[in-house]
Amino acid sequence: MDERVKVTEASEEELLLLLDPTRIPTHVAIIMDGNGRWARERGLPRIAGHRAGKEAIRQTLEGCRDCGVKILTLFAFSTENWRRPPDEVEALMELLREALREEVDTLVRNKIGFKVSGDLDAMPLEIREELRRAMDLTKENKELILNLALNYGGRRDIVLAAKRIAREVQANRLSWEAIDEDLFRNYLYTAGLPDPDLLIRTGGEIRLSNFLLWQIAYTELYFCDVYWPDFRKHHLFQAIYEYQKRQRRFGGLDAQER
Ligand code: IPE
Ligand code: IPE
Ligand code: MG
Repeated sequence: MDERVKVTEASEEELLLLLDPTRIPTHVAIIMDGNGRWARERGLPRIAGHRAGKEAIRQTLEGCRDCGVKILTLFAFSTENWRRPPDEVEALMELLREALREEVDTLVRNKIGFKVSGDLDAMPLEIREELRRAMDLTKENKELILNLALNYGGRRDIVLAAKRIAREVQANRLSWEAIDEDLFRNYLYTAGLPDPDLLIRTGGEIRLSNFLLWQIAYTELYFCDVYWPDFRKHHLFQAIYEYQKRQRRFGGLDAQER
């Protein structure tokens, strides 16, 4: 059987066995896209698609634990998503509020650390409080980290980092000569996290939509057509399988070419 067919038809257990445990991506980032189309195809309101996406998040977290991914960054709301109709934005915030209230215990029980990347000042106060609580309760958990990108924009991330650095220089706490890539990354929302090894976008669009622009300089990109609410563990394992076939050179040469 053709290898690709074998992989697309393999069960989640079979796929897990096909993965090389020594080359599991440490950090996987996902653009969870396609909720609206999933709902429309079923004659449902868009929010039903967002709601159905919660199961995909559960499965993905479980899949990360099963195979040893250490950090999962999920793009939940972009700085551009405020352009959506107010009732969709409001429904998304309500869903987030609800999910935080319901799932914090699960995070604690499963020893999952919770972090947020994004501009939280514009988020409703109640959500900010829930986010703080979730981060506080799980701050000791290091085995698996769920990093939620909320009101996140890659450009805003970079601009805010530049502004904070400028302020430090202006206050004489930092010399401009000390600014380099390593320093800069510490001012980004993702400070302290390694760059993603693998970026997955579901929903069939082949673009980044302003996600993690700095951080994905050498990330392996994987696009799949499945709508986010249909994303299951085996899709994650397929993406990692594909990732493991890639040669990451970071601008250098493969070992055999040297
Ligand atoms: C992604 O699904 C979720 C968010 C952006 C919040 P979409 O809502 O973008 O779904 P499509 O792309 O319209 O199908
Ligand atoms: C990206 O999806 C944002 C999230 C998944 C949160 P969008 O659906 O907002 O992106 P575009 O509009 O198709 O680029
Ligand atoms: Mg979309």
